[in-house]
Amino acid sequence: MSATVLSVTPDFFAEVGDVDLSQALDPGDLVDIKEAFAKYAVLVFPGQHLTHEQHLAFAATFGPLETKLTVYREESRDQAPGQIEDLSNLDVDDQIRPEDDRVRQMQLGNRLWHTDSSFKRVPARASLLYAREVPPIGGHTQFADLRAAYDSLSDELKERLEGLIAEHAFRYSRARIGFEDLSAEENDDLPPVPQVMVRTHPESGRRTLYLASHMGRVLGLPETESDALIDELIAHATQRQFVHTHRWRVNDLVMWDDRCTMHRGTAFDDVRWRRDVRRATVSDELNTYEREGIAVAAE
Ligand code: OGA
Ligand code: MN
Repeated sequence: MSATVLSVTPDFFAEVGDVDLSQALDPGDLVDIKEAFAKYAVLVFPGQHLTHEQHLAFAATFGPLETKLTVYREESRDQAPGQIEDLSNLDVDDQIRPEDDRVRQMQLGNRLWHTDSSFKRVPARASLLYAREVPPIGGHTQFADLRAAYDSLSDELKERLEGLIAEHAFRYSRARIGFEDLSAEENDDLPPVPQVMVRTHPESGRRTLYLASHMGRVLGLPETESDALIDELIAHATQRQFVHTHRWRVNDLVMWDDRCTMHRGTAFDDVRWRRDVRRATVSDELNTYEREGIAVAAE
């Protein structure tokens, strides 16, 4: 039986059944999944039983894998390979992180709207988050459709955004939650990088916003105007008509397109309940302005 794609929303969110991601995929299934991914941007594969290696092998069919961020580099829990990013609330000894734990504090930044790795020169193309344990209440993940959000902008604003470049940095999103405890070395490792604010999604040809709480400054605009524009765009793009909430079940693998969506984790009592979610991340090939054919003068 071949993979079944069931739309949850008309063109943003779909569930995929009749496929076992622990096995090498049938070429026909892979084509169907890639087509669905180009159309929807977020796919859920329920009921998957994956080792880290199987999780990574499926992710690698979409492109080169990212390695774990240096700021989070601790010893891996259960010997997870270096390409598995640990988004759980568990430490190396598999215990719930206490309130004042540094990694926990830093991870609270994931509750802000963002797209993964926009603070890297070559950002993420796709993220694949797999849940082994989920809390009984809260701890959902929300997704915003930045293609639909772009389509609904006024022509005037669309025009204004053409060719604009914003600087993104890990420390900008952490500063928004009041986390300033990054070492000079950690900051040097992740310097601000330029990204376009509007881009074309290659597989669908759709124009899309490209936004994240990692944004600090729109180049060429005065600071007040830049801050106002960033806030206005994030508020616009996360109105409820563009947002879908995923309520996790154990063994869900959720795959999203980082080039045309934002996401955020919702609150839960993370010093009480275990939430074991781990991510494999597929890197894009080019910086966003190289892909759009835009020259950045001041670097
Ligand atoms: C991520 C992320 C939010 C969540 O995996 O990149 O931001 O709900 N996750 O865990
Ligand atoms: Mn994320």
